[in-house]
Amino acid sequence: MQQLSTKHLLGIKGLTAEDIQLIFETADNFKDVINRPIKKVPSLRDITIANVFFENSTRTRLSFELAEKRLSADVINFSSSNSSVKKGETLIDTVNNILSMKVDMVVMRHSSPGAPHFLSQNIDANIVNAGDGTHEHPTQALLDSFSIREKLGDVAGKKVAIIGDVLHSRVALSNIFCLQKLGAEVMVCGPVTLLPKYISSLGVKVEYDVKKALQWCDVANVLRIQLERQQIKYFPSLREYSLYYGVDRKLLDQLDKEIVIMHPGPINRGVELNSNVADSEHSIILNQVENGVAIRMAVLYLLAGVK
Ligand code: CP
Repeated sequence: MQQLSTKHLLGIKGLTAEDIQLIFETADNFKDVINRPIKKVPSLRDITIANVFFENSTRTRLSFELAEKRLSADVINFSSSNSSVKKGETLIDTVNNILSMKVDMVVMRHSSPGAPHFLSQNIDANIVNAGDGTHEHPTQALLDSFSIREKLGDVAGKKVAIIGDVLHSRVALSNIFCLQKLGAEVMVCGPVTLLPKYISSLGVKVEYDVKKALQWCDVANVLRIQLERQQIKYFPSLREYSLYYGVDRKLLDQLDKEIVIMHPGPINRGVELNSNVADSEHSIILNQVENGVAIRMAVLYLLAGVK
């Protein structure tokens, strides 16, 4: 059996292009499985997985849980908002207590960048990063590239524009690493205040005009404005952001080609993306969500094979 080069999935930065291709080929098989009448396989029977979420989530948490159940793993769910973290318990004590219940894998979301890396140095289980602050969200990037491959046949050679709040986005960084490893060209576009100063050193094109970005790309991945991470004002108002950077039908109709629209969710409708695009034939947003289950099944199955 082919194996991943890593015991943990902490970020796309730590994966090889071969790892990503192996995850995609494995996800192809699992996508077939979850479209059958009997959607469950015994691949992770007797493996126990803890989903440990210190930040809110809908898609990622449900998608991991469903992936684990489809693989016949035993699943426990931890949410910090109703836990003893509220009484002052530390991250490492929390996870060590969970692990003492004989847990094999930990899927963790945390608001601090590097939290899953810290865990991986202190505990023995396989760790999967389900989003660490503004750093990485590797399974989101994998499902995004998998969805581009499914829609356009390949990722190599495609032009992908990542539009919006790149500064606060873990999705952006993981997508840049993943798309580049797979041979795509990447552009970031947004107001200067929402693009990190270091961004061009990652080998991406930088554009401030959303019309030019849309004209350039084959795929636009529109990012959420992350108001909860913004301690200062990065633009005058949501209305003004929407006016200058919101992607709507009128903008798409002005292009001389069809492009694919993606969004990691949750969407601020009418801010970064208008409903007349989000719910249109251009959008593959719900395909991304569907593919998330197959990608997460592949990641968990492959990591379980690496001790
Ligand atoms: N895309 C994403 O991470 O969504 P959730 O925050 O709902 O998990």
